[in-house]
Amino acid sequence: MYTGKIALIMAIMQILKYPDPRLRLKASPVDLVDNDIKDLVNDMFETMWHANGIGLAATQVDIHKRIVVMDLNGDGSAPRVFINPEIEVLDPTFASYEEGCLSIPDVTESIERPSKVTIKALDQDGKSFQEDATDLLAVCIQHEIDHLEGKLFVDYLSSMKRQRIRKKLKKNRE
Ligand code: NI
Repeated sequence: MYTGKIALIMAIMQILKYPDPRLRLKASPVDLVDNDIKDLVNDMFETMWHANGIGLAATQVDIHKRIVVMDLNGDGSAPRVFINPEIEVLDPTFASYEEGCLSIPDVTESIERPSKVTIKALDQDGKSFQEDATDLLAVCIQHEIDHLEGKLFVDYLSSMKRQRIRKKLKKNRE
């Protein structure tokens, strides 16, 4: 559940941490970009910047709607909103990038993904747009859309590696 009232009290939201099962839920499309959604987007930006992230999916704050916020500069200078984002692969050549995730703290792993995609989404005003993406934008949008599907970057790793990461996170929390 989410209401504007909660937003006033709690602008910085709690980020779910792997292996929380709620990170595995599939998010539903946003029907209407109304004020509640806009409030949520603002809170997601605050939460992401506070945690020094460059991308955050609503799934990570336990809101199972298809919303992604991003700021590839990480300093508030390049905020981007993607509501109901969809991608199509333009260049299936894989590129690898050292990925991290706010839900999997202190872990980075090299992950391979298609190097060029086209993104279709709604912006923060509910207007649809389309954009071709390469480099970090292509990596980040694929990573965040995975979150909306209940998928995490560790799913691309071997089960042994995943096991090691779970142990490390558990130890860090103790
Ligand atoms: Ni992530």
